[in-house]
Amino acid sequence: MADVIQQIDEVVEQAKADLSAVKNADQLEQFRIKYLGTKGAIKNLMKLVGQASKEDKPKVGQRANAASSEVNEAFEAKKAELASSAARVPAEDVTEPGKPLQIGRPHILTQVTDELTELFGRMGFTVAAGPEVEDEFHNFIALNIPKSHPARDPLDNFYLQPATGEGVTSGASKGGEEHLQLLRTQTSTVQIRVMETQKPPIRVVIPGRVYRPDTVDATHLFMFHQLEALVVDKNVTMVDLKSTILQFVHAYFGPTTKVRFRPSFFPFTEPSAEVDVWFEDKQRWIELGGCGMVHPNVFKAVGVDPEIYSGWAFGFGIERIAMRKYAIDDIRHFVENDVRFLSQF
Ligand code: DAH
Repeated sequence: MADVIQQIDEVVEQAKADLSAVKNADQLEQFRIKYLGTKGAIKNLMKLVGQASKEDKPKVGQRANAASSEVNEAFEAKKAELASSAARVPAEDVTEPGKPLQIGRPHILTQVTDELTELFGRMGFTVAAGPEVEDEFHNFIALNIPKSHPARDPLDNFYLQPATGEGVTSGASKGGEEHLQLLRTQTSTVQIRVMETQKPPIRVVIPGRVYRPDTVDATHLFMFHQLEALVVDKNVTMVDLKSTILQFVHAYFGPTTKVRFRPSFFPFTEPSAEVDVWFEDKQRWIELGGCGMVHPNVFKAVGVDPEIYSGWAFGFGIERIAMRKYAIDDIRHFVENDVRFLSQF
């Protein structure tokens, strides 16, 4: 009898070893046929029971039944294990080509800003930057914009402290009105910051955000971008200003693009002009911004001698430039984050 019991144990042993090597449903089916099928090893064990002597039969039968349920249970456990790992693997054809990845790109305004700084870089300009939270000294006073000037009206600026009385506030006790803070309305502030720290010759462009409490429409946002330029050296003239702007317009918009200079007024330049480029698609002029020769008062505010040095500057709207270059009809597109718009560039 011991022989028969041993034979049963060996079958169970072998079954367990085979089962632990099973990796997929096909192998599991092979296992089922080999051990649990009608001609399988477990069925064969039952034959041994039939062959056993009368007194051995109960013992052998018990052992064979135990072996059968042991192998059946192990089989069911393996089946459940394979099913749960199969559920984690998506039922996909892994040989199919992959889905294309959506790759992001720089925002169109970032692309245009990079194009502009690169272009001016080739004309010998370096890039400068300054803070978006400014004080009245850099945004107005040093730029020759007096206290009475309408540009300083609280309704036209994002001041960060309420003005009390003569503009001296508790939050600006350090030094009065010059330290009243606001979001800068123009990148011209950085002209002052550059001249405070750098001696001429100076040749910089300054791209950056500016803020004005305008009502949003197709041509206005309350935050937009400007590209400022400043050149300071000996014997700098209006001819340099005009030829640099012409060179820029023809390089960026095409060599036949029409440019127009209109006499204008800015407190920080004298003489001053506004620059328009012809928009062929729309059959109209688009204003890029202002320019002029740096006012002597601006030089005096930063300790540059206007008897020795002269300079020119411009400040153009980057959205305007991008709209003209890429025929964009509404400035709001830049900030709406609509992928259908952004993915075109
Ligand atoms: N800061 C002016 C504005 O925001 C634009 C401007 C005009 C900038 C003339 C300049 C300049 O540098 O020379 O409207």
